[in-house]
Amino acid sequence: MSSDQSTGSETAPMDNLSHESRSFAPDPAFARDAVAQQSLYAEAGEDRLAFWAAQARELLTWETDFTETLDWSNPPFARWFGDGRLNAAYNALDRHVEAGNGERVAIHFEGEPGDTRTYTYAQLTEEVKKAANAFTALGVTAGDRVAVYLPMIPEAVITMLACARIGAAHSVVFGGFSADALRSRIDDAEAKLVVTADGTWRRGKPSALKTAVDAALADGKSTVENVVVVKRNGEPVEWTEGRDQWWADTVETASAEHTAEAFEAEQPLYILYTSGTTGRPKGILHTTGGYLTQAAFTHRNVFDLRPETDVYWCTADIGWVTGHSYVVYGPLVNGATQVIYEGTPDTPHQGRWWELVQKYGVTILYTAPTAIRTMMKWGEDIPGQYDLSSLRVLGSVGEPINPEAWMWYRRVIGGERCPVVDTWWQTETGAIMISPLPGVTAAKPGSAQVPLPGITADVVDETGASVGDGGAGYLVVREPWPSMLRTIWGDPDRFVDTYWSRFEGMYFAGDGARKDDDGDVWLLGRVDDVMNVSGHRLSTAEIESSLVGHPAVAEAAVVGAADETTGQAVIAFVILRGSAADEDHDAMSETLRQHVGKDIGAIAKPRKVLIVPELPKTRSGKIMRRLLKDVAEGREVGDATTLADSTVMNQIAADFAK
Ligand code: PRX
Repeated sequence: MSSDQSTGSETAPMDNLSHESRSFAPDPAFARDAVAQQSLYAEAGEDRLAFWAAQARELLTWETDFTETLDWSNPPFARWFGDGRLNAAYNALDRHVEAGNGERVAIHFEGEPGDTRTYTYAQLTEEVKKAANAFTALGVTAGDRVAVYLPMIPEAVITMLACARIGAAHSVVFGGFSADALRSRIDDAEAKLVVTADGTWRRGKPSALKTAVDAALADGKSTVENVVVVKRNGEPVEWTEGRDQWWADTVETASAEHTAEAFEAEQPLYILYTSGTTGRPKGILHTTGGYLTQAAFTHRNVFDLRPETDVYWCTADIGWVTGHSYVVYGPLVNGATQVIYEGTPDTPHQGRWWELVQKYGVTILYTAPTAIRTMMKWGEDIPGQYDLSSLRVLGSVGEPINPEAWMWYRRVIGGERCPVVDTWWQTETGAIMISPLPGVTAAKPGSAQVPLPGITADVVDETGASVGDGGAGYLVVREPWPSMLRTIWGDPDRFVDTYWSRFEGMYFAGDGARKDDDGDVWLLGRVDDVMNVSGHRLSTAEIESSLVGHPAVAEAAVVGAADETTGQAVIAFVILRGSAADEDHDAMSETLRQHVGKDIGAIAKPRKVLIVPELPKTRSGKIMRRLLKDVAEGREVGDATTLADSTVMNQIAADFAK
């Protein structure tokens, strides 16, 4: 399963260059009143640490003010605002109520079947206080970990904030991940409590969730002591007495009196697992003060947020970092009103999102390029049937956005009047790092453009030297930033190796990038073995290790092939073991797709599993994935002269084309 490390960077949208010269100057009226101002860059440029200290004090309420902004005496282990103390949930909730905004809507929830719920800040605060009391009664204390395996329902937000309130770190596991994936994350974090639901709605049908939790905990040997279950769709559930509790019996009956205790700024806030270059997902650790500062700063300035009047909607699931920073922490710390939608964009019809924009008067929309490209395919008549005139800022995240999709988003959804912000960041960075600022930056379709004030992102060559305008290389961050990951949970060496060893003293993001002649940054996709499918991060090694875990498989190689809609698609090449090789290949391919789905989750299922007699290997036995990627993307196979057997690729290319 070794790789030649040369895959990944060819995923850039092909039509970048033709649009490069194009840019949209900020609308003067928008610019005049914009939340973000050009002066932020100068301020941050003059004294980056003073800038972040000022933001931390302006955006957050500290129980104890900090005296030191950054402790970087032991790089790459950073401490931001180290001697300050605060409570994350108090910042997201109570203080808004105390400021007289208790009646402001925090969440407009819309379930897939059309059920709705509204929570004001006062109501949400009350629910979080109850959940904090309930979790405490179940033995959860500061420093513990809580696994969250929930659909996009208000209880997910309530659970996360209740954990934060009592100083326990949440570890949200995307509801689409399998029981095995859930178990490995529970084990790695040594979670004490799991919060889940009986099920959720998916494309009009009920789908189960608790069954995966039961399967994950079946051997009774995990660290989990209790499972709290939200009743969402009435799916039948098995019950383990003594371990399982209904949300209705524990949380809803708990006292709504709870005083938030302040924790130190570096108190772990959450762990979020993400794919890396090896088979084992990494538990990215975020802490409190710095993370909240940058989440709130970016949410306010990148989206031009006006909490009194805006209705904000981020379509990401809480299972991903976007749901953490831009559904839970950024918007709520800023006192925003937001929409949360449980379902898929095409249920019960392909206009569902636009119907919601119209219904709630959404003013700021934040979504992923894959969704935009899917809507493009469905046709502009569909959004055309709804009143989208409330929209005023549009955001994109998760993968490179091709200029064509950017232009469509701006024209069809934004009516040519809304600034589009393409925001680059990662689970590891915690918050947006590179993005235009609406009203300030002249926008270029397809480019994330400029590091935000206070962020020193750059593009460097192999030696770590900054490339000039017009050059290409690797994306790095030169200086620590407040919402940076603090470590990989339980594996500080891997943290140092993965991010801080490639270039001396710099954070290596794993993305290729180039600077255009104006110095604007264009993201070119991953330079490692991480794939990006519909904005979801998957590792080739993780899927390969699932495939070779199947008894019929001898060897496997996985590549991410460019895909018009999903950005990349997973394509697997496998060699079967002895007798399995004689079985029907179509049936076996399907079996293996399902196997990966069960092992990791449906999002990781390969689009295609091609059974091959041999894989392309160098004389030293390394699989040359670059060649497999050529085949998967329908290109002429590149230089194969270093292969031990140069005829292998002819056979694979012929089989793939069948
Ligand atoms: O390759 C980059 C891509 O998504 C990766 C991070 O994935 P994840 O940690 O799952 O976080 C996604 C949501 C922040 C990055 O290394 N990526 C993210 N945003 C962009 C992007 N690629 C290009 N343009 C973006 N705006």
